[in-house]
Amino acid sequence: MGPLKQEIELEVLIRARFPLIYLVSWEEQRALAMIEGISQRQRKKLLSWSITEGFGQDLGQSAAKDPQAALCQIGELREPALIVLKDFHACMQDPGIIRRLRDLVASFKSSFKTLIILSPTLTVPVELEKDLMVIDYDLPGQEELKSLLERVIAASQAGNKFAVDLSGAQKDRLIQSLQGLTLSEAENALAHAVVKNDKLDISAVDVVLEDIKQIIRKSKLLEYFEAKEEFAQVGGLEPLKNWIEKRGKAFSAQARDFGLPQPKGLLLLGVQGCGKSLVCKTVASLWKFPLLRLDMGAIFGGFVGQSEENMRRAIKTAEAVAPCVLWLDEIEKGLSGTQSSHVSDAGTTARVFSTFLTWLQEKTKPVFIAATANNISLLPPELLRKGRLDDIFFVDLPNEQERKEIFSIHIARRRRDPGRFDLERLAQSSGGYSGAEIEQAVIEALSEAFSQGKELSQDHIIKALAAQIPLSRTMSEEIDKLRQWASTRARPASATSPMAAQNGASRG
Ligand SMILES: Nc1ncnc2c1ncn2[C@@H]1O[C@H](COP(=O)(O)OP(=O)(O)OP(=O)(O)O)[C@@H](O)[C@H]1O
Ligand SMILES: [Mg+2]
Repeated sequence: MGPLKQEIELEVLIRARFPLIYLVSWEEQRALAMIEGISQRQRKKLLSWSITEGFGQDLGQSAAKDPQAALCQIGELREPALIVLKDFHACMQDPGIIRRLRDLVASFKSSFKTLIILSPTLTVPVELEKDLMVIDYDLPGQEELKSLLERVIAASQAGNKFAVDLSGAQKDRLIQSLQGLTLSEAENALAHAVVKNDKLDISAVDVVLEDIKQIIRKSKLLEYFEAKEEFAQVGGLEPLKNWIEKRGKAFSAQARDFGLPQPKGLLLLGVQGCGKSLVCKTVASLWKFPLLRLDMGAIFGGFVGQSEENMRRAIKTAEAVAPCVLWLDEIEKGLSGTQSSHVSDAGTTARVFSTFLTWLQEKTKPVFIAATANNISLLPPELLRKGRLDDIFFVDLPNEQERKEIFSIHIARRRRDPGRFDLERLAQSSGGYSGAEIEQAVIEALSEAFSQGKELSQDHIIKALAAQIPLSRTMSEEIDKLRQWASTRARPASATSPMAAQNGASRG
């Protein structure tokens, strides 16, 4: 097994005598094993320090548990060394420690010593930003997971404890499902599968997927959705549906061979209640990708300074689960900096967002962004720049034909035969209503019919429509502005939307 990308990166930095490196990883054991390998190759002493053990046996009895004293001892070391500080992020709140670190770093420039801070979260005091290189220790890849699986299989044969029934292709499938887990999580997931099934066979994949869902839930930044929504449940929006269907094919290996780039993502702008969120869910179920909703509120929650780290972690998790759809619902709310009391300040918001944008620009993993927004004035212009996402669609109020389809869908969903209703007339009576309002009218009508002890009729629905004031009436100005804005920047999600008609008119 060749060295990992981050191993090469770390070794290069050490050779180049970078004094201070921050290695971000949940996997202490795995990371330490890697650093040990490097120390042997470079013939440097390896010391590791933790707040509970100090330097342990590495520096004899006097080894300091106090972080300041530990830094002093490190300063006095004469020989070339790699010094690993475990969980030191917690100590770096202290101005005295920060000062000492800066002094050390200055003195290291002419020595063969490197300090490596090893921690699961990245928190860098501003004073150290310029002195420090950050390496993300990626989760184990294909090869590492493969050797893990081989080890587990070998163990079963040695101990003869459980049967293994996996073809070559099934092994590959199982290894693929383990991606996104740390090495110890992957090991646990395999053990879990063996205990559950009394053997190791292809059904382990289901156990692993369950474990992955658990892990995503625990992260609290992402929400795992079981998307069941299908195109049949979305009325109208044909051009958008066609686009999604076409893009789905661009994830295949053939598409790569053909020279197509990996799809990046989609932004749906538009009027409230017209199916933006609904469409995001259908993307995942149509492509059979897991759907992960990024919770902007959770990203900005917690301590100040944690937001960027949260964003990085969410991105890492999504990449690990890839291919997947990463759903950012109502993206402007997370980015406006005014939504919740947790949002600390505009600077934080900007930094978090720039982390996100940089990733969008550079991402190579098949994580498809499905973002929605209502309010364009809060949307950062950088997001709209070409190349960041594949396309921007404007989702307008449904036209008459679309309203017909939406009525049909929602009447059928309430277990009534749409054929019994005059859909034509319903569509005519609901000009300016959104999909959500049409759904609401059907529900109102149903409840009225129920309270009268009658079957749902055409009249019930017409009355329910009349009793509602659609948003398009109270918000007509906002909607017009949105249409104006979108007419030059977004594609219409529907072939004959009022916007398309308007464009046609102004062109003609
Ligand atoms: N085109 C449509 N076809 C069928 N149902 C629709 C359609 N548009 C909206 N609906 C119904 O309205 C509900 C709400 O729509 P959705 O949440 O997708 O709107 P949205 O555009 O995301 O609105 P918001 O901007 O308020 O988030 C959907 O779950 C669905 O039941
Ligand atoms: Mg929505």
